[in-house]
Amino acid sequence: MNILTVGGGGREHAIIKCLKKNPEAETIYALPGNGGIAKDAECFPIKATDIDGIVDFVKNHTVDYAVVAPDDPLVLGLVDRLEELGIPCFGPRANAAIIEGSKVFSKNLMKKYGIPTAKYEVFTDAGSALEYVKNCPLPTVVKADGLALGKGVLICMTREEAESAVHSIMEDHQFGKSGDQIVIEEFLEGPEVSVLSFTDGKTVVPMISSMDHKRAGDHDTGLNTGGMGTIAPNPFYTPKVAERCMEEIFLPTIRAMNAEGRTFKGCLYFGLMITKDGPKVIEYNCRFGDPETQVVLPLLESDLLTVMQAVTEERLSETEVRFSDKSACCVIMASRGYPVKYEKGFEITIPENIADRVFVAGAKLSDGKLLSDGGRVLGVTEISDTLNGAIEKAYEDVKSIHFDNAYFRTDIGARALSAVKGA
Ligand code: AMP
Ligand code: GLY
Repeated sequence: MNILTVGGGGREHAIIKCLKKNPEAETIYALPGNGGIAKDAECFPIKATDIDGIVDFVKNHTVDYAVVAPDDPLVLGLVDRLEELGIPCFGPRANAAIIEGSKVFSKNLMKKYGIPTAKYEVFTDAGSALEYVKNCPLPTVVKADGLALGKGVLICMTREEAESAVHSIMEDHQFGKSGDQIVIEEFLEGPEVSVLSFTDGKTVVPMISSMDHKRAGDHDTGLNTGGMGTIAPNPFYTPKVAERCMEEIFLPTIRAMNAEGRTFKGCLYFGLMITKDGPKVIEYNCRFGDPETQVVLPLLESDLLTVMQAVTEERLSETEVRFSDKSACCVIMASRGYPVKYEKGFEITIPENIADRVFVAGAKLSDGKLLSDGGRVLGVTEISDTLNGAIEKAYEDVKSIHFDNAYFRTDIGARALSAVKGA
């Protein structure tokens, strides 16, 4: 069987390594993949957003199944295009991917169907948004409506910050058309939990919970990044919280999407905050999270390809999705200076004995050498019986991987660990 994967980061590397465990997976084509993924798949330099280029590729190669991982091609309707060519896909169609593609859509969906989330207002012009922030409760959160490379959320502690957020999103068009509409919402507090789920539109099966570490610096300081590390399971996601999430959030969301004629099939990611009033949705993503996937899939004991195909064929309820009861920790090694300005092009050395646990995000091959080529360069994941064990092993691995200008957080999992100890 020939499988096409779309995307080229650490998440895609984790998906590909997991798909490869199934002996049916003969050839994996990765578009565009990256220098590290090239060890596990055949990479072709076609961007994930080049929908026509991908469609052309598929017309010229035999593809039996496609996994579309990143948000943009999903929102741009790649799954719809591939399905028109008769290719079974993992990932939602554009009309369902809008759950991530438009924050206005997702907030209105939650309001209409009573799904717990932060209170909010929508603005389509800067004047009324500026009027609103004169009196709104602080802190407040200003969000661009559309995709903004994970940067479209601004937490504002003061009125001045809120005003300047409105100016930069709506008037200076910092995020282009994504900022034509904005959501201004209530600031929520509590631990964050990421729950990725498989859903075929009928059944929803949450994967093991995880915790991202979004800030660049130790102790959650510095700028927001794509994610500097993850652990799973997340100790704040207790069985009681999980039960409430299923009843109040997961099932109602699946039903709401069906009622809107936008059945969601694929991986639906629930970004949750466990507030004192219960779990609330911070955001939905229409795809696997990055770097959550790098801890979640290594703990999956069932076969990923089998589960994905069950989602596509709407037989998820008959399919076993089993996770290990161990813990995992992924530490991201980035280029120093990320997420702002950084140098790249440094040779990366990874000891052979840990290569299986390394997921490459930003690297290219040049004369047979692997060179750093992005902000987030790679992630290394370890599994252990305890969270502490997984964290220690992951940091041991980090010590053995080298490239110039490498930067990583030293406290991935620390907050989770204190919650485990405190329990
Ligand atoms: P996002 O880009 O949507 O993942 O949001 C980035 C981060 O902003 C989230 O992980 C939260 O930490 C924070 N955030 C988003 N919305 C809120 C909110 N309403 N209250 C507090 N923090 C928020
Ligand atoms: N790690 C957060 C995301 O994938 O959006």
